[in-house]
Amino acid sequence: MLLGHEKVSFLHLPTPLEYLPGVSKDLGVEFYIKRDDLTNLGVGGNKLRKLEYLLKDAQDQGCTMLLTLGGAQTNHGRLTAAVAAKYGMKCAIVCVDPYPGELSANLLLDRLMGAEVILKKDDGRPESEQFAETAAAVKARYEAQGEKVYEIPIGGSSDVGMLGYYECAMELTEQAKQMGLEDATVISAVGSIGTYMGLYCGLKNENSPLNLIGVAISPFLESKEKRIVEYFNAVKEKYGMTCEATREDFHIEKDYTFGAYNNPVKEVRDTVCYMASREAIILDPCYTGKAFNGIRKMVEEGKIKKGSKVIFLHTGGLPGIYTKHHRVEFEKELLDGVTILD
Ligand SMILES: Cc1ncc(COP(=O)(O)O)c(C=O)c1O
Repeated sequence: MLLGHEKVSFLHLPTPLEYLPGVSKDLGVEFYIKRDDLTNLGVGGNKLRKLEYLLKDAQDQGCTMLLTLGGAQTNHGRLTAAVAAKYGMKCAIVCVDPYPGELSANLLLDRLMGAEVILKKDDGRPESEQFAETAAAVKARYEAQGEKVYEIPIGGSSDVGMLGYYECAMELTEQAKQMGLEDATVISAVGSIGTYMGLYCGLKNENSPLNLIGVAISPFLESKEKRIVEYFNAVKEKYGMTCEATREDFHIEKDYTFGAYNNPVKEVRDTVCYMASREAIILDPCYTGKAFNGIRKMVEEGKIKKGSKVIFLHTGGLPGIYTKHHRVEFEKELLDGVTILD
């Protein structure tokens, strides 16, 4: 029971907290990685922790189907499909995006796991309107077939979803204590904010000594500034948390976004290659590659002190490297190491 809420327990927790000697040596910091990419359903990733709580909420409401929103290559959609498949539920993923030209990466996995994917072409109206309208139509269609639909917002970042990372914060605090890392800084990619918010609340409300930095992976605009404060106030009130926070308390680094969500960036691909070739850990070009690239920059810029302890949360996202617009770029850069014998 966490803040009065139960979950459906389908993950093998705790996930490992590993020391990375190569990266530590290169960066001059003590570098650890929290392997939430190794969570055990549908190729893994951070959304599964949120989904343990969201699934319980859906079951409590007698729902037979999960419906969620995202981009055509949403990791969260893929993991929602995974949970639905495992628990015998229907799943629909509504995207405001065109067909990317091929059934690959997350989109392929969604279909393998039996989810319906609805791709709505962007008509220029506010995205939120298009999502709401399309989701309502899909929901009505399934309800007419007798399904009871549980709606999950983008990224699973609701008051219920954040509980997964509140729990992760407690898990990390315990692991850090056992490994003598109480003065470490935890660093995570920030998208729809649920992961960061869960970690923030879990660390603060449980009096953890760990510090927290979020690295925004897309421009952190006024709407997100507003959202982060509103989100905190909503969960504080809902769960009766005693910790306090104003905007200044949320440490979000905004300088490492490269201007857009999921854009192909050479520097990020180089960082993905670096981690893969140094530690055999695969990052993704949209979230974890950008966040780890941000960490490398922060060390260079002195924002992260040499000799300090860093815990990087690996939030998953592996299928991202198989999306066409990233894969073709990798191919240009890496094909020279493929020897083709006649
Ligand atoms: C691989 C990966 N990392 C990080 C995030 C960011 O998490 P959040 O949306 O909770 O901020 C996401 C969200 O989609 C993700 O898929």
